[in-house]
Amino acid sequence: MSRTLAIRGGTIIDSTGTRRSDVVVGPDGSVLAVGPGLDADDSLDASGCVVAPGFVDLHVHLREPGREEAETIESGARGAALGGFTAVLAMPNTTPTVDCAPMVTEVLELGRDTACDVRTSGAITVGRRGKALAPMAEMVRAGVRLFTDDGSGVQDDRLMRTALEYAGSLSHLTGGRPIVLAQHCEVEALSEGSLMHEGRVSSSLGIPGQPAEAEELMVMRDIAMSRLTGGRIHFQHLSTAGSVAMVRAAKAAGLPITAEATTHHFTLLDECCASFDPVFKVHPPLRTDADVQAIKQGLADGTIDAIATDHAPHTSHDKDRTFADAPPGMLGLETAFALANTELDLPIEDILALMSWRPAVIAGLDPVHGGPIAVGGAANIVVIDPEMEWVVSGEAMASRSTNTPYEGRKVKGKVRHTILRGQPVVVDGDAQR
Ligand code: DOR
Repeated sequence: MSRTLAIRGGTIIDSTGTRRSDVVVGPDGSVLAVGPGLDADDSLDASGCVVAPGFVDLHVHLREPGREEAETIESGARGAALGGFTAVLAMPNTTPTVDCAPMVTEVLELGRDTACDVRTSGAITVGRRGKALAPMAEMVRAGVRLFTDDGSGVQDDRLMRTALEYAGSLSHLTGGRPIVLAQHCEVEALSEGSLMHEGRVSSSLGIPGQPAEAEELMVMRDIAMSRLTGGRIHFQHLSTAGSVAMVRAAKAAGLPITAEATTHHFTLLDECCASFDPVFKVHPPLRTDADVQAIKQGLADGTIDAIATDHAPHTSHDKDRTFADAPPGMLGLETAFALANTELDLPIEDILALMSWRPAVIAGLDPVHGGPIAVGGAANIVVIDPEMEWVVSGEAMASRSTNTPYEGRKVKGKVRHTILRGQPVVVDGDAQR
């Protein structure tokens, strides 16, 4: 395709500010013109809509290779595009684990012509078993910028220290761009056997819980590790008030720390588990209202840098089991913006920062993703109608799985169009790939 495309009648919001303007993008994947009254070979209507840099999700499980019945890189990328994401960072807990360069290359190849720019993280330890460091340098050469054992945290203090020191020594391979270690904070000695958050609700249900401290002790340790090594740590899916407070203090002390929160941790409570519906089972678990309020405050005051989805598809065969036997995780890609827009009392500019340009910087994807919409910039763009109401349906999603905890929920804010490298991949809410 060698046609130009005009996005007409919208309001651009990016990291430089807000203005009413049309945008023309070209087949070379760049922005050709920004201004009033623009025309091109084709056009997309954006009247009443916000035109912004595409969203970047730091945390998705795409299940390929190994669990293609739950999701593939192609179906996950399509769901991401429908959710307004132009880039996603896949987690390495596939089968086999993404813990070496050939696995990184395989995932990147599978994502090449999909509806979203699919990048991958690499495991910190071999097989995510927490015993030996994975070959991080070869994975950096293959394109990895963020490492994590997500699904579990690195339990061994000494290994975590070594990983931070090693990662810090690899930035010569990336032209000085930092390599980030991301942590799923969970002390297994405290969480083992748990199915939900430990507190009043778990006691009354008789479901074994894990205390907030299972997360907080590892946040505390890793803050200490960052202080010791100077290493850069990104905290994944923060879920407790205590964690938010510690990250706030560590940032104030100048440590190189960033953090994300998932949509479910600011929209759902541990009380949801009283239904015994495994769709509400997730790691870290849904917490209390006080925790939800603290996450919202952290998002509002900049303590938490990014909204991530932790999109975790599971087949109905796996998820429709007892609460004890079902795997943890829930879908997130196609509902994230609407939930943030509906549930957070924040200006849309702040929501876009949390979903686009701030996570893009953490993943090392800026300015190709998250960069300002300006002539010569990359044309990775989302067009959103912030006022449009719709009802969530798992069946209607592009994901191969249907485990959304928001089934039937009315939300406000819909992705109308998504443009990837100058090509429309979602038009009027319909996927084109
Ligand atoms: O709920 C979760 N599901 N938390 C994780 O850390 C892993 C994820 C998965 O892979 O299903």
